[in-house]
Formats: sequence, structure tokens, C-alpha cells
Amino acid sequence: MEKVRIDLNENSYDILIGTNISNDLNVLIDKGSEHNFIITDKNVDRLYGSSLDTFGGYDKIVIEPGEDSKSIHVVTDILEQMLNKGASRKSKVIAFGGGVVGDLAGFCSAIYMRGISFIQVPTTLLSQIDSSVGGKTGINLLHCKNSVGAFHQPDKVIIDIRFLHTLPSRELLSGIGEIIKYGIIYDYKFLKYIIENIDEIKKCNDEIMLYVVKRCCEIKAEIVSQDEKEKGLRKILNFGHTIGHALEGITGFSKYTHGEAVIIGMYHETIMARRLGLIDEKYAEEILSFLEDLNINLDIGGYPDSELHRWMLKDKKNIEGKVSFILPVREGQVSEVLLDEDEIFLK
Ligand SMILES: NC(=O)c1ccc[n+]([C@@H]2O[C@H](COP(=O)([O-])OP(=O)(O)OC[C@H]3O[C@@H](n4cnc5c(N)ncnc54)[C@H](O)[C@@H]3O)[C@@H](O)[C@H]2O)c1
Repeated sequence: MEKVRIDLNENSYDILIGTNISNDLNVLIDKGSEHNFIITDKNVDRLYGSSLDTFGGYDKIVIEPGEDSKSIHVVTDILEQMLNKGASRKSKVIAFGGGVVGDLAGFCSAIYMRGISFIQVPTTLLSQIDSSVGGKTGINLLHCKNSVGAFHQPDKVIIDIRFLHTLPSRELLSGIGEIIKYGIIYDYKFLKYIIENIDEIKKCNDEIMLYVVKRCCEIKAEIVSQDEKEKGLRKILNFGHTIGHALEGITGFSKYTHGEAVIIGMYHETIMARRLGLIDEKYAEEILSFLEDLNINLDIGGYPDSELHRWMLKDKKNIEGKVSFILPVREGQVSEVLLDEDEIFLK
């Protein structure tokens, strides 16, 4: 089993990564004697619910799969179930699922009785390499991504690579989008590794995935340890997300997975960096051709600029009406630029 430590000012924790390590959650999770809760979604419950039975001594709350569950109504429902079933300040929540379950269950633990502890057991590639690490929890309001939330760090993250084998290929690709992001924002050698091994990554080769997931967690842990509350460095994780979140919002979360939206966002934000003269032609071409080879539809010409801009204006990082973009500037490095509408759409 691999271990990555995330060191924060007030609490530090381990990210445990391995194959079949979730077979023995009892050993990995100190349940204590209190009433604990596993929060999961219907798909994950259907696939893995029975394997949790050996875990015992918990209540299970099963939500509908999908981004629509990241809503205030589902939060209310979960909190009411926890209260009715006697959850106390010493209870633990185990988030067992993808990023939707992690963000939602994490947020419920952040606010239930002013905060109880929780453990992340992520089951999608995206949640294993990104959303389960770093303590951002939250929900959407009026289709505005993560507009309500809290920083609330888990006690531990338990990552079992075996869960990836049942992921639909579209969900795998969604996670691959965020993997590529780490290479571009932080580690060019890692980007090269991803480009060289993309076929094995798509096939979910255990050995390669173990390395890839661990490297992504290391990078995220290094970034979050330096800037837990996103005052500076942590913003680099948002490369591709300004356009990505706008696309998710404009389509009401119905057209793209989160990672697909981020891939399209990284593509168009790289073009933007090239147009602004921030990145050299050769490196821009290397990023763009790799993203083109992923075979997703990168065309966003059908969305009116004014609509895209309206969604971009909801971004938390914007300053004085200017939209914040994280753009690639050189190998393994990105930089924040603030742009007004004319500069974004070249009017
Ligand atoms: N908190 C953060 O730092 C952070 C970072 C990135 C993304 N996010 C959030 O994460 C969410 C996206 O997460 P996601 O991509 O994991 O989506 P998801 O949670 O919706 O999962 C995708 C689909 O895969 C299914 N699934 C989960 N595990 C499976 C498995 N092992 N086998 C088969 N099917 C499985 C789910 O039921 C769902 O249908 C978004 O809401 C995004 O905003 C949060």
C-alpha cells in the first residue's frame, strides 16, 4: 500500500492508495463506538454495497447518482436522516463514491452539529486523483457550480484502484482530463509520461494507474499544503475550469461530464494563452494536439459569447468584473490572468 501525507496547519492526514485495500475497511477506519454513516449513490451501492456488509455497524444513506444531487434539497434530506437516526458530534461520515458523493457528504459533515469527521473512499478516477483530496466540499445553487460550500478536511482518504475497473469509459476519460491538468500546471515530466502511456491509462492498467493516482495525489497534496484556502497557489488547479464550469452551467449539467468540460476548457484556454502571446507555439501545439487525440468534441462555437461570459462572471475567483483564467505559460507552469469580455472573445 502506498501512502501520501498531506500536511496542513491544523490537521494532517494520510492518503492510502492500493489495490483491493478496501476489502478491509474495518482495519483502515477506526469507527469508534458511535453511530456512523456511509453515504453513497445508487450505482456504487449496486456494484459494491454488499462488500460493505462486512464493515458493519453503520447506517447507509443512498442518493441518486449525478450532479443534480449536489443540491440544498439533498443536503437537507441527508441531515434530517442523520438527525432522525441519532447521529452525534462523535459520529463519522464515510463518503463512498465519486466526486458528487464526496462533495456532498463532505459538506454535510462540515455543517452537521458544526462539523463532524469524515473519511473519503473515492470510487471514480476523478475523485481518486482530485476531489477527495484537499478538503473542498460543497453543492451547486441555481446550476452555479460549488457556489455553497466549506473547507472541511477528511480524516483520511482510502483509494482502491480496483474500483476503476467498473467505471464506464466516459467516466474514465473524465478523470483523465484532470490527470492531464496536473501535468500541464505542475510537472511537465509527468505530462510526457501521460502522453506516452495514454493507451494503458485508458485500459486502466493497474500498475500504471497506481503510479498515476499516487503522483496526482502527491501534486495536489504539495499544492494544498502550501495554500489550503486558495489564496494564491491553489488557484492553479483551476486551469480549464473557467470555460469548463461555464459549459457545465450553460448546459444545465446535462451534456458534459465534469472532466469533459475541463478538457474542452483546457483546449480553449490554451488557444487563448497562445493568442495573448503567453505561451510559445511549439508547446501550445503539443498540448492542443494531445487534447484533440482524446476524441471528444471540442467545438464550443454554438454557445453565444455573451452567454458564456454571463456564466464565467459567476466564478468565485473573478475580481472587479474581470474573469480569472489560469493559463499555461511554459512547460509545467501556469499563470493567472484577469480578462474583460473584449479580451476573452477578441471583440
Ligand atoms: N472538491 C473538489 O476539490 C473537487 C475537485 C474536482 C471535481 N469536483 C466535483 O466532483 C464531481 C464529479 O465527480 P465524478 O466525476 O466522480 O462524478 P460522479 O460522482 O457523478 O460519478 C460519475 C458516475 O460514475 C458512477 N460511479 C462511481 N463510482 C463508480 C465505479 N467504481 N464504477 C462504476 N460507476 C461508478 C457514479 O454513480 C456516477 O454515475 C463534480 O461535482 C465536481 O464539481 C470536486
